This record gives sequence, C-alpha cells and structure tokens, in this order.
Amino acid sequence: MDLHLTGKRALVTGASSGLGEAIAKAMAAEGADVVVHGRDRARAEAVAAAVRAAGGTAGTAIGDLTTDAGADATAEAALAGGPVDILVNNAGVYPSRTWDEATADDWRDLYETNVISVVRMIKRLLPAMRGRGWGRFIQIGGGLALQPGADLPDYNASLAARHNLTVSLARELKGSGITSNTVAPGAILVDTAQRHFTGLAAARGWGETWEEIERKVAEEVVPNDIGRMGRPEEIAAAVLYLSGPLADYVTGTTLRVDGGTVLGVH
Ligand SMILES: NC(=O)c1ccc[n+]([C@@H]2O[C@H](COP(=O)([O-])OP(=O)(O)OC[C@H]3O[C@@H](n4cnc5c(N)ncnc54)[C@H](OP(=O)(O)O)[C@@H]3O)[C@@H](O)[C@H]2O)c1
Repeated sequence: MDLHLTGKRALVTGASSGLGEAIAKAMAAEGADVVVHGRDRARAEAVAAAVRAAGGTAGTAIGDLTTDAGADATAEAALAGGPVDILVNNAGVYPSRTWDEATADDWRDLYETNVISVVRMIKRLLPAMRGRGWGRFIQIGGGLALQPGADLPDYNASLAARHNLTVSLARELKGSGITSNTVAPGAILVDTAQRHFTGLAAARGWGETWEEIERKVAEEVVPNDIGRMGRPEEIAAAVLYLSGPLADYVTGTTLRVDGGTVLGVH
C-alpha cells in the first residue's frame, strides 16, 4: 500500500534512539525526507547516516527541547532544508520514581521535558503549516495516561497531558487541513526499557535471560492479550498511517498500540 509519504518532510523529535529512531527509519523507507532530532549530535548523525545508507533522505536537528534556545535551534535546522509537513513529538524521558521518591521539583522538571517541549515545537512549526494548508502533529503518548499504576506518577501525568493537548489542538485546527493525533504505546522493547526491566529482574526473581525477563514483564507489569512487549516498528507503523493522506479524516484520536494492555473502552 502506498502511504503517499514521498515528498513529505517529517521532523521526528528524539529520533537518536528507541521509538523515534524506528519512526524516522520507517518514514524514510516510505519515501519521506526525515529530520532526525536529538540532543546528542553523534547519535543523531549515526541514525541519519543509517537512513541514507538504506537509500533514504535524512538530515539532523540538534537541541535540548527543555529550553527555548534548543527548540529554536531544532526548528531552524529542520526548516533550513524545506517546510516541515509532519511533526512527530516523540522526545521524552521516563525516570523510574515512586510517589515517595518523586519530589515537587521532579514533577515540574518532567512536565517541562515531556509536555512543554512538545508545546514549544508545535508553536514553532504551526504557522508555516497553516500557510500550507496541510500538516500533521503526532504526539507519542502512552497507556499509562489512560491506566496509570502507582509507580511513575509524574510520568503518567505527563503522558495524560500529551493526550489532552492533542485533542485540544485538533479542535483548534478545525478546517485547517492539519490533524493532531496521539499514538499510545504499551511497553515497547527499546534499550532504555530493557535496561530498566533488567535492573529490576534480580530483586523480583524474573530470571536471568532477557527472554525470561520479558515473559515476566508481560505477565506481571504489563499484562496484555498478546503476551509480550511491543516492538518499535509496531509503533512506527501506526505513526506512518496517521502521517499520510489516508488519515486525512482522523483527528483528535488516540491510536493505542499496546497488545490490549489498556482495558476498557477508551
Ligand atoms: N518505550 C516505551 O515503552 C514507551 C511507552 C510509551 C511511551 N513512550 C514514549 O516514547 C518516547 C520515546 O521513548 P523511548 O522509549 O524511545 O526512549 P529513548 O530510547 O530513551 O529515547 C528518548 C529520546 O528522547 C530524546 N530526549 C530526551 N530528553 C530530551 C530533551 N530534553 N530534549 C530533546 N530530546 C530529548 C533523547 O535524545 P538524546 O539521545 O539526545 O538523549 C532520545 O532521542 C518518550 O516520549 C516516551 O515517553 C515510550
């Protein structure tokens, strides 16, 4: 199926690793011109080089999105290569903290990183997108926005804010040709998540090999109907669909890709 992404330019924030890297690579494989963003220039350049080696088109934009200067630098670098049709707001962090551990400052800092950074990038790219009459804002949210547990309370709330601002933005963009949607992953196997769960494995008796640990994670931490963690490519596939004109009639929605981790009707 042709997703009609050839000729589109996409900025993927936090594409120097994990989900963002998979999204950038998948977009490029479908013909989009991608801008790989990260704070770490070497990692971002390595991803862009891999895209080009596979026959795709990619540049980089570097900046810490928790600052206006970093967001300015990112937007300027992205726009220097041409207009941005698709912004995937993926950059973010998920420090492992309990209610007792997370201080008020932690909550504030995480909101800055996971929410205000998203707003910074939307504000920088929206005016030109409006002028062109077509565009995409895709926020990476998560199942913990809809079904939070006791742990990571500050992170859960930051994801909920992403889901909420996505819908508000869709309403704001009424009739503009620009859509705003959320992709909500369950627990996805990226290096950061694998390190996190491997760190917990010994204390919880989850076994030694990653296969044993993942099985336990799927049973105890993120029980779901498929019986495993998700893969980055499975998130990228949802982003690809929402990015193209086949999804022109989809806005303000949350596309869950979580193996059925989130229960109930959302
Ligand atoms: N993996 C999951 O199971 C899962 C599930 C639900 C939602 N998510 C969401 O998916 C997104 C990506 O997560 P991931 O698992 O792929 O993690 P990851 O591999 O650790 O990637 C995080 C990315 O965000 C970038 N980043 C972090 N802080 C930044 C900042 N202040 N300014 C600019 N860039 C920043 C990092 O850039 P550097 O390389 O420069 O540090 C990196 O590219 C996050 O927003 C996360 O909340 C993940």
